[in-house]
Amino acid sequence: MKLSDILSIDLPCGGHGFCGRCRVRAIGSLSPVTREEEEKLSPARLKDGFRLACMAEALGPVTFPDLNLVSDGKSKAVAMAQEADSRPASGTAAKTASKPQDTPVVELRTQLFSARTLASRAVPSELPASLPAHLGVAVDIGTTTIAAYYFDLETHKLLAAKGQINPQRLFGFDVISRIEAASRGKSQALTTLIKSTVSDLIPRQTERVVLTGNTTMLYLYEGLDPLPLSRAPFTMEHSFGELLTREGRQVILPPTFSAYLGADTACALLASGMSAHPEKTSLLMDIGTNGELVLQHEGKLYAASAAAGPALEGGKIASGMPSVPGAISHLDEGWHVETIGKQPVKGYCGSGLIDLLAVLRKKGLVDVSGRLEESPFSAVLWSTKLPAFTQADIRELQLCIASIGAAVERLLAISGASKIDHLCLSGGFGSGIDPTSARQIGLIPASTRLSALGNAAGAGASMLLLQPGYLDEMVRIKDRLTVIEIGGDPAFEEAFLRHMSLMPFEEI
Ligand code: FES
Repeated sequence: MKLSDILSIDLPCGGHGFCGRCRVRAIGSLSPVTREEEEKLSPARLKDGFRLACMAEALGPVTFPDLNLVSDGKSKAVAMAQEADSRPASGTAAKTASKPQDTPVVELRTQLFSARTLASRAVPSELPASLPAHLGVAVDIGTTTIAAYYFDLETHKLLAAKGQINPQRLFGFDVISRIEAASRGKSQALTTLIKSTVSDLIPRQTERVVLTGNTTMLYLYEGLDPLPLSRAPFTMEHSFGELLTREGRQVILPPTFSAYLGADTACALLASGMSAHPEKTSLLMDIGTNGELVLQHEGKLYAASAAAGPALEGGKIASGMPSVPGAISHLDEGWHVETIGKQPVKGYCGSGLIDLLAVLRKKGLVDVSGRLEESPFSAVLWSTKLPAFTQADIRELQLCIASIGAAVERLLAISGASKIDHLCLSGGFGSGIDPTSARQIGLIPASTRLSALGNAAGAGASMLLLQPGYLDEMVRIKDRLTVIEIGGDPAFEEAFLRHMSLMPFEEI
């Protein structure tokens, strides 16, 4: 039986051994390594027991140590007995009646660190051998990666930060695939995977934990059925915002706003400090496959999420790739490129694509409708040796820009705001883009002030860890926030078509 059948996982390249994305560590009685596996896995990885699930076959019992799953080799994998977490999600979770003791809510700006400093600090990736007496961990459960930040709760010192791939990726790369997997009977496996990974990141003596993430990730972590999150009317039966006691430690689950605006958005909002200046019109943008937007105007908050698609993460783009070494992250009008890690060029990541599109617009090689002057551009590609970039790529990027732009336009229209005082870009992508290029092609609106926050969700979770009193503030923020459903809104559809034009937001 193939490992992919044992694990019931998605096979992005159809199981032909081309993509290497079904990589999994498997120990036991297995078929010999194939040519495809030798090509896709380094000798060190092979030595560590990594295999391509679409190629390797179980000849007898197999253990998947990173997934805490086992199989007899003839049937589907099951959770290892000692790792399976059968605790009911909230049955054992005692909601504490009392408020935290150490929670004077201090003004956001006076915090010891901000989202930006958390992102830019050179932080050790390993914990010190001797742990402090009062250890706290803030965990940001992302769909792709899980980040954990370790703090001394007494001194507020950031001790270490660790990153780990979310093992649920075996069941799909986005939230919808995970929900579909859960609906196909994989919910227990998804919950076991995430719980055991997170629990491995939390030392036994940890006193307080904050768990943030998008709504689906928190649902799966808590063992709740995520199916209603993906189907109209997209109801969110559980919205968290709780301080619990589990296994003798405090566990804080920040509030979620809607099926698509999760605790990570709530944490990013906290870290942005926007609510400390309600007189300002501020916009928080987190741009990824899903764009999360929160606008503050005249003291009220309006939030929306827009399906942006994978183009800005390099998906569906001929030479697109994630932000990894070798990806072009910036490009100027002289066609000079900057690559991540200063490595030889391999393709474009999102920020490089934005620069490229802005340069092509400036040089008149792409018109406002997105039409590419194919033959002069081919000559440029030939002379500069830049990776391929096609008309189809431009259309993919336009869909993404239009979706974000139209959602911002709707928020401005509904709130009555006419200009933005402060634009906060959160997430790795937001921090890496050139704002001038992004404005030129209509991806972000103009603003008096712009801040790139880095991992604002992780920073907000860390603030909550150090000052649990912020939970009250987050719940209050939730109460004055209106979630705007843009799906099916004719005004959004109309704005979407206009925002396909590659011009500054204000000129559309
Ligand atoms: S699914 Fe692509 S290599 Fe296995």
